[in-house]
Amino acid sequence: MTIIKENKEKVDRCYQRAEGKAAHYLSVLQEQIGSKSYASTLLDDLIKWKSRHLPTRTLVPFLRRGVKPPDSSDGMRYLAWLARVGKWDDYLERSVSYMYLRDLGQDLSDARTRTKIQRSVIEMKRQVDPSAETSNGTTAGEMLSPASLYRWAQREGVEEAVIWVMGRLKGARTHLPPEMDAEEAERKLIKIIFGVVMHVMDEMEGGMGSAERSRRLGEAIKLGYYYGLTYPYIDDLLDSGALNAEEQEQYTRMIRLTIRTGIVPELGEWTGRHQEMVRFIHAELREAYEFIRNYQNQDTQDVFFEQSYIFFESQDADRCKTLSYAHYSNEELYLPIILKSASSRLIVRSVISAPRDEDFDQRVFYYGLYNQLADDFADMAADLEAEAVTPYTYYLKYRHKRPDLLNPFELYWAVISHLIHYVYRSEPQTREIILARAINGLKRYQRRVGAERFHEDMAIFSLGNPELEALIQLLVRRAVDVDFYDKWLRDQLLATMRESRQEKEQFVQLIQNARSHINGLLPISDAEASSIADGRLLMDTANYSLQGSGKRLRPILAWVMGVEVYGLDPLALSPLFRALEYMHTASLIFDDLPSQDNSASRRGRPTLHQVHNSAVAELTGIFLIQKAVEEQASLKGFDPESVLALLQYLSRKAGEICMGQAMDLNAKGKWLTVEELDRICFYKTGIAFEACLVAPAILARVPEDEMAVLRKVAYHTGIAFQIKDDLLDGEGDPHLLGKPTGKDIENDSSTYVTVLGPDAASKAMWEHYCLAMEALMELPRPPVFLKHLLNYIINREN
Ligand code: IPE
Ligand code: IPE
Ligand code: MG
Ligand code: MG
Ligand code: MG
Repeated sequence: MTIIKENKEKVDRCYQRAEGKAAHYLSVLQEQIGSKSYASTLLDDLIKWKSRHLPTRTLVPFLRRGVKPPDSSDGMRYLAWLARVGKWDDYLERSVSYMYLRDLGQDLSDARTRTKIQRSVIEMKRQVDPSAETSNGTTAGEMLSPASLYRWAQREGVEEAVIWVMGRLKGARTHLPPEMDAEEAERKLIKIIFGVVMHVMDEMEGGMGSAERSRRLGEAIKLGYYYGLTYPYIDDLLDSGALNAEEQEQYTRMIRLTIRTGIVPELGEWTGRHQEMVRFIHAELREAYEFIRNYQNQDTQDVFFEQSYIFFESQDADRCKTLSYAHYSNEELYLPIILKSASSRLIVRSVISAPRDEDFDQRVFYYGLYNQLADDFADMAADLEAEAVTPYTYYLKYRHKRPDLLNPFELYWAVISHLIHYVYRSEPQTREIILARAINGLKRYQRRVGAERFHEDMAIFSLGNPELEALIQLLVRRAVDVDFYDKWLRDQLLATMRESRQEKEQFVQLIQNARSHINGLLPISDAEASSIADGRLLMDTANYSLQGSGKRLRPILAWVMGVEVYGLDPLALSPLFRALEYMHTASLIFDDLPSQDNSASRRGRPTLHQVHNSAVAELTGIFLIQKAVEEQASLKGFDPESVLALLQYLSRKAGEICMGQAMDLNAKGKWLTVEELDRICFYKTGIAFEACLVAPAILARVPEDEMAVLRKVAYHTGIAFQIKDDLLDGEGDPHLLGKPTGKDIENDSSTYVTVLGPDAASKAMWEHYCLAMEALMELPRPPVFLKHLLNYIINREN
């Protein structure tokens, strides 16, 4: 108890100290606004800055020729344009410098920082090359895809950390309450992870061995995730209104105690309706705190808890404000903002256990407010709508009644001027970059709300200095070379996430429709067989095995290829869909037999040999295979030669699947090489996937070179699917799977997981996933569906 009390006093003292510093900062800014001294220096700065950023005459004929530069949010086309007109290097340098300034709190006049910036620019040029020849066809979406992320992880030797973090992000996504924007939370988390990784990269000395570099990067990814979690789970959750008043209080108490003591307290009784979610979050936070604590030394731990406390309390003070209250003082409005924006950045450095650096602390302390005021400006309409108190919404509402209120837009420029001249001692490069960023922010805002609205805002937030205002507006209209890579990345990330959400919704819909259609086609009814005594038995057992929670992936795949890609008639293809699912179901019946995997349940129900006996199960399997052949032979509306080719092809594949099962059983207890594992996976599982892609292509008479690509896609898809099945056998939920887990160990089977362990197996799965994605891109029109199917395959839980 005494420790807790001492700690409380310590953090309280810290908070007061920080508040004193923030109050001093605010009074300095107020002073500059009062005397208007910021305005004259800013005018000078902008005039100097302008000479490099207003288009010169030589550009005019270029524009007249109609070669209008693409919009800065225009994906790879914009980057390619930058490269073409020779602006790529400048753009990267500006962007990297800004990252060093804002995210890493560095001083740009420092020679070491300059060297690091140059190094990063070279590295970025290596990673992103928008020049026409190489980027042909790569979209920003592909650049930001899980496959390219994994490829990066391989280059850096951090596959395990990246696989881990992707799994955790998925968990976080599914546990957020509906009141919260899961996409926004994920974007924030990614940004924070990225920030921590950058910090760690920056702290790494050159000449470090690659194993050590990978180790540190891997740790940074985990740290970034654990630290980043505090945003959605502490701040955003409390902001979201998902918790009721009682829960909110209980939750706040838990967090406050955690931050004051560094230990996540027991959850105890939770009375609110969010019990399950809170339990999940509690466990996550506990793990996060433990990890961060273990990583830190005593010194950085103190900073971490101090700054976290300041962050939390200032957020809390900010959150408790209501827009209807007319009497907040400037201090009440601004001090929490100064504190939260500064502390959130100071935490990052303590998270990675970097040594204390007074200069860094100073720079970062002053910088936060600039970003906060820029963000609040951009969000002002939405904040007003939500009745949130920000300097802008408050000013909009009370500016007439409260002449004492600071004009936040004026404060914004005063902060900029203070940063340039007091924090960064009028260093030209810093001025160049901060002003570019400021003008860029306003340009983006104007583009979003339109010129008219922008002018209205400028009138409301008037700086009272016509010359300065006119210059700012001119620059917002006409300045060039003010774009930044991180903004581009953010736009692309948002667009990619939005697009992939829409595609995914369509994918889910398509799967559902195809599945229910296929389910309707499957039941076997045979009037002739049912007329004889006992004739129904095998029909009933076959139907029994076909029912249940089967995913129908194979016929769905054939459906998409046949109907959506090749435009064949779905009705005419029905026999093919049946044939593929009959063959697959037969293989499952055999696979479950006591002589093979000896499994008691399948598709959520007892296996056939459990309900009847092995003889009935075997006969049902053969019956289904024959039914599959019968179906193939009844395909109508295609040229007979194609149907014959199909029959021959599928019979051969059925035989090869049997060979795969034989290889699998023969491998029991053996130590296999990766090549042998791949071969078994391909034969027992991949071939069936190949059949689903190739069979419709045979009927559609697709040329051989395209067929070869399809086989390559199927090869890697099938292996990835089987590795995921092996992983699920180890750690899946039998209720979701509809079949028992732990069978592979029980049977002494040699799978990826039992031979190489789950980590190596996951890596192999990701490798095949990437290879399948890359092969997919070789198709003339890569079907979006297959991309999502692959994502589904490696993320599935059943
Ligand atoms: C299970 O296949 C057999 C393997 C090849 C691993 P599925 O997981 O597709 O099984 P159902 O059809 O959905 O039951
Ligand atoms: C089975 O692999 C492959 C085939 C049925 C052809 P598994 O034996 O791993 O499949 P499950 O896990 O029983 O579904
Ligand atoms: Mg098996
Ligand atoms: Mg099995
Ligand atoms: Mg299995």
